[in-house]
Amino acid sequence: MQLSGADELLEHLVEYYDRVAPEYDSWAGGLHGRVAARLAEVAVPKKGETVLDVGCGTGLVTQLVAEKVGKKGSVVGIDLSARMLDLARLKARPNTTFMAVAAEHVPFRDKSFDLVTYGQSLPYLSDPIGSLEESIRLLRKKGRVALSLHRRSLHTEAQDLFYEVLGDLAVRHHLRVPEHSPERSVFGEPENLSRLLDELGFSDVRLTEMVTGGRARTPREWTELMAGSGPLPHTLIRVLGPRLRTEFEVTLAERMQELGAEAFRYHFAFIFASGFLTG
Ligand SMILES: C[S@@+](CC[C@H](N)C(=O)[O-])C[C@H]1O[C@@H](n2cnc3c(N)ncnc32)[C@H](O)[C@@H]1O
Repeated sequence: MQLSGADELLEHLVEYYDRVAPEYDSWAGGLHGRVAARLAEVAVPKKGETVLDVGCGTGLVTQLVAEKVGKKGSVVGIDLSARMLDLARLKARPNTTFMAVAAEHVPFRDKSFDLVTYGQSLPYLSDPIGSLEESIRLLRKKGRVALSLHRRSLHTEAQDLFYEVLGDLAVRHHLRVPEHSPERSVFGEPENLSRLLDELGFSDVRLTEMVTGGRARTPREWTELMAGSGPLPHTLIRVLGPRLRTEFEVTLAERMQELGAEAFRYHFAFIFASGFLTG
């Protein structure tokens, strides 16, 4: 059976998250956990609230929010990756439920939640705007949304060079990875995010940022780190056999020399947004 482009992309993403699930929480020294902790602060969950965590993955945000809403509150985490959900369920609190449900069609009644969180999930969804509209349907009056997103424009020159060298290699070896359209990569820019939330009817939108970074000591350490940063680098690096992988790392090391002191330096930057539903 021939899959449509959208189905192929979704299947690829779910396969990717199933594959990386065991390493997700420990990637980059636990960076996803630190981003989740900041989102849980920005979202300000209150005792007794009901919360939906969209694209919950291993439940990093879900858990922290569940702690904050306490025994009288509850949190539902939804995701489509069975392996991510398995790990989330292992550490679930009694006030938490995890469901294999798509972000675009959530089987709850209108006005079921006080807060909806999206921990680094929005750009990966099949229909990000459709999902936010679904969240509006699910939110009670004065309900809130809180999101964290990767801010790609703060990548270093070394990261840009890495993607260039990887792209060249993919073209030379006819490697193709299903990808979302390029506008997804700018969702995390402050002006785009505040405009989007504003257009959807959220008010009092607040943004904050977090930037982390460092420098890899070797080309292998760099490729390992970058492989965990998203579906595209992970898939391409994984399909390289040992010979192509070495060839890639040698080329990368040579090209990095152009950058002098900036070689192998990386930034992972995140933006956090919260907003209230006015209607
Ligand atoms: C980058 S991970 C984020 C995990 C976690 N929320 C965090 O804060 O680290 C994105 C998650 O979105 C999930 N996802 C992708 N498309 C989805 C969809 N249409 N509906 C529900 N979840 C989806 C993926 O399976 C993955 O677990």
